[in-house]
Parts: sequence; C-alpha cells; structure tokens
Amino acid sequence: MMSSIIVSICYFIFCCFSFSFQSTDCVLKSNETDQLALLEFKAKVTRDPLHVLSSWNYSRHFCQWKGVTCNPRHQRVTALLLPSLLLQGSLSAHIGNLSFLRIGYLSRLRNLSLENNTFGGQIPDNISHCVNLESLRLGYNELVGKVQGKLSSLSKLRIQSVRSNKLSGEIPSSFGNLSSLEVLSAAENQFEGQIPETLSELKRMRYISFGANKLSGEIPFSIYNLSSLSDFHFSFNQLHGSLQSDLGFTLPNLEVLNVGGNQFTGPIPTSISNASNLMRLIIPKNGFSGKVPSLENSHKLEWVSISRNHLGNGEKDDLEFVNSLVNASRLELLAFNINNFGGMLPEAVGSLST
Ligand SMILES: *[C@@H]1O[C@H](CO)[C@@H](O)[C@H](O)[C@H]1NC(C)=O
Ligand SMILES: *[C@@H]1O[C@H](CO)[C@@H](O)[C@H](O)[C@H]1NC(C)=O
Ligand SMILES: *[C@@H]1O[C@H](CO)[C@@H](O)[C@H](O)[C@H]1NC(C)=O
Ligand SMILES: *[C@@H]1O[C@H](CO)[C@@H](O)[C@H](O)[C@H]1NC(C)=O
Ligand SMILES: *[C@@H]1O[C@H](CO)[C@@H](O)[C@H](O)[C@H]1NC(C)=O
Ligand SMILES: *[C@@H]1O[C@H](CO)[C@@H](O)[C@H](O)[C@H]1NC(C)=O
Ligand SMILES: *[C@@H]1O[C@H](CO)[C@@H](O)[C@H](O)[C@H]1NC(C)=O
Ligand SMILES: *[C@@H]1O[C@H](CO)[C@@H](O)[C@H](O)[C@H]1NC(C)=O
Ligand SMILES: *[C@@H]1O[C@H](CO)[C@@H](O)[C@H](O)[C@H]1NC(C)=O
Ligand SMILES: *[C@@H]1O[C@H](CO)[C@@H](O)[C@H](O)[C@H]1NC(C)=O
Repeated sequence: MMSSIIVSICYFIFCCFSFSFQSTDCVLKSNETDQLALLEFKAKVTRDPLHVLSSWNYSRHFCQWKGVTCNPRHQRVTALLLPSLLLQGSLSAHIGNLSFLRIGYLSRLRNLSLENNTFGGQIPDNISHCVNLESLRLGYNELVGKVQGKLSSLSKLRIQSVRSNKLSGEIPSSFGNLSSLEVLSAAENQFEGQIPETLSELKRMRYISFGANKLSGEIPFSIYNLSSLSDFHFSFNQLHGSLQSDLGFTLPNLEVLNVGGNQFTGPIPTSISNASNLMRLIIPKNGFSGKVPSLENSHKLEWVSISRNHLGNGEKDDLEFVNSLVNASRLELLAFNINNFGGMLPEAVGSLST
C-alpha cells in the first residue's frame, strides 16, 4: 500500500510539473490515477445492495461508470455523484483502511456527493487536495469526529453539506477562509462551542444552517452583516443574547429566520418590518419579550411562530401585530400561544388568508 501511495504521489508531482508540456505520458498517468482512485474507493465500500458499483469494471472506460462524470477533453473525473444508494463504508483514512485516500488525487473533481448512504468514519483531510471542489455533499451518513480546519483551503467550494451526521467539536474558525462558500448546511450534528466570528468573512453566504447542534454563546454581531443571507437556521442549540437590532436593514434578502428553541432574550427587532422578503419567522421557545413589531411590509410571510416566549405586556394593544398581517396572503401558520399577551383577539384574524 505504502509503495503504491508513493508512486502515485510521484506521478502527481510529475504531472503537475509537466502538464504544460502536454506530455502524453503524463496524460496517461493522470487519467490512470483517477481510475485507481475510483477502484480503491470501490474496494472499500463494504455494502452495495443495489450493485451500483458492479458497473465499475474494465469492460467500460471509467468515465462511463455509474455516478462518474468526466471532463470530455481531458477524461478526468469532475464529479462523483452517488447519493441515496444504500452504500456502506468508511470515509476515514485511518479507520477505513485508507479507503478515501485516493479521492485526494482526483485533482479535477468539482462535485462530490455521497449523501444519504451509510458512510462512517471521519471526513478525511485528503479531500483538501481536491482543490477544484465546488460542492461537497456528505449529508445523511454516519460520519463522526471533528471537521478538520484543512478543508478551509478549498477556495472554490460553494456548497458544503454535512447535515445529519454525528460530527462533533467546534466549527473551525478557519472556515472564514472558504471565500466562495454560499451554502453551509450542518444541522443535526453535535457541533459545540461558539459560532466563530470569522464566518462573517463569507460574503457570498446565502444559506447557513446549524440547527439541532450544541452551540452556545451569542451569535457574533458581525454575522448580521452578511447581506446575501436568505436562510438563517440556528434553532435548537443553547444560544443566548439578543438579536441584532437592525437585522432587518442589514439582511435585506432574509427569507427564513429560524432561531427557535434557544435562550434568546430581548425584543424582536422592530427593523424586522423592513425585511420585505421574509417568509418564515420561527422563534418559539425562547425568552423574547416586549411588543411584537408590525409585519405589514412582509407580504411573503408563510409561517409566523412566536409561541412560548415572554412577548406582550398584558396590555390591550398587544395583539396589534395580527392586524399587520392582513396582506400576507400566503400565511399558513400563525402561532403565538404561551406568552404574556393581553387584550382581545383582533377581528382581523377572520380576514387572514387561507
Ligand atoms: C488515458 O489517456 C490516454 C491518452 O489520451 C489514452 O490513450 C488512454 O487510453 C487513457 N486511459 C484511460 C484509462 O482512460
Ligand atoms: C461490468 O460492467 C458492465 C456494465 O458496464 C456490466 O454489464 C457487467 O455485468 C459488469 N461485470 C461484472 C463482472 O460485474
Ligand atoms: C435516502 O435514500 C432513500 C433510499 O435509499 C430514500 O428513500 C430517501 O428518500 C433518501 N432520503 C434523503 C433525505 O435523500
Ligand atoms: C483493512 O482491510 C483488511 C483487508 O481488506 C482487513 O482485514 C482489515 O480488518 C481492515 N482493517 C480495518 C481497520 O478496517
Ligand atoms: C456541480 O455542482 C454545481 C453546483 O451544485 C452544479 O451547478 C453543476 O452542474 C454540477 N456539475 C456536475 C458535473 O455535476
Ligand atoms: C491522506 O491522508 C493520509 C492519512 O492522514 C496521509 O498519510 C496521506 O499523506 C494523505 N494523502 C494526501 C494526498 O493528502
Ligand atoms: C486563512 O487565510 C489567511 C489568508 O487569507 C491565512 O493567513 C490564514 O493562515 C488562513 N487560516 C487558516 C486556518 O487556514
Ligand atoms: C457591519 O458593516 C458596517 C458597514 O460596513 C460596519 O460599519 C459595521 O462595523 C459592521 N458591523 C460588524 C458588527 O461587523
Ligand atoms: C424601512 O422601511 C421603511 C418603510 O417601508 C422605509 O421608509 C425605510 O427607508 C426603511 N429603512 C431602511 C434602512 O431600509
Ligand atoms: C393592505 O393592503 C391594502 C391595499 O393595498 C392597503 O390599503 C392597506 O393599508 C394594507 N394594510 C396593511 C396592514 O398592510
């Protein structure tokens, strides 16, 4: 094993060095490296009940193997997409018998999806060698351990999904270096510690989700400066503090604010009424207090869930915000039970949408 690794490293260095000369020898070595990487990956898959990988044999070129996409000109692997195929194995270089070692040599790989299988082990550092990677989808597996800071060298990565695994440890602060990142989906794991301030460097971020983890501390205010953000999911953690008062101004594209099931306190920022793209306001089971601001500019609202807080002051006009929802024609859910609301249920409740 060791000698074949060394040989491949040599080919790799040799090819990087000589590629500009278009040496045929080098092209041959490069595409064969990819084939070898795929075969080693296959060798370490321990269960394949749908026999997906039986097409991975020499009767056809590896670019025609199921789940493999190649660059037509160079015949190099650009995507490996094997989602939802009941595959079982280990991604870990250590635990899994170096099963994933070779993936690092797929230097032109752009998309890797092994979502919704039963891969275990850790996410190997070696993936950081796939410098062209744009999307990495490893959600719905049984991956464990910490996410290595090395992954932050993937400067072209736009989508990273590790949702529903058993990953733990802190969110690496070096993730702030993933400058192309648009989607970071990491809900339903066991991440702990604070949200690193460096995430505010990710100016292209549209979707961030860390729901159902064990994060604590406050949301760094700098995160509210990510003006591209449309989806903000941090529900069911142990976060506290208050929401940034001008988030409705700094996040003009906000569609989903989901921070239910934490220990947030303070008011619902009145600036929320400027978030005119807001579709889901989901903040139940916290310690929010004060008057609920008007939502009259948010015509796209579908869900408003503010139950189980300390909202309202037992006063007559506490439920005025319900009147502000009459033009939200897509409203499906309005939940405000278990708060301190006083007064009468406004008649507007009868003219709310479907
Ligand atoms: C690799 O590329 C060379 C040169 O284009 C070609 O002759 C050879 O068949 C290829 N091998 C594989 C496994 O694709
Ligand atoms: C090799 O792959 C082909 C499809 O590409 C398949 O029809 C054939 O059954 C495979 N051979 C074996 C031995 O699995
Ligand atoms: C996972 O895969 C199974 C089939 O293997 C499928 O039924 C299910 O919908 C998939 N789930 C997700 C979240 O993709
Ligand atoms: C590694 O692979 C060999 C042979 O495939 C197997 O006997 C051994 O148990 C494996 N070790 C681990 C740690 O998976
Ligand atoms: C790779 O992923 C990107 C983003 O999801 C997508 O636009 C592109 O079509 C994918 N390419 C391949 C070859 O799957
Ligand atoms: C892959 O990871 C293994 C184990 O951590 C390491 O020994 C090896 O050098 C790495 N290979 C590459 C290409 O990064
Ligand atoms: C992040 O990038 C900066 C430069 O862009 C570099 O100085 C720093 O070492 C990187 N941090 C990590 C942990 O990769
Ligand atoms: C947010 O951005 C504004 C304008 O660029 C800046 O003045 C402010 O200091 C930033 N706030 C944080 C908390 O980074
Ligand atoms: C907030 O909305 C109000 C009313 O629509 C508008 O007059 C004001 O300019 C907005 N403020 C910002 C900072 O967008
Ligand atoms: C609802 O829309 C009507 C017609 O555009 C407008 O007159 C009214 O002020 C709006 N009410 C609220 C609470 O937004």
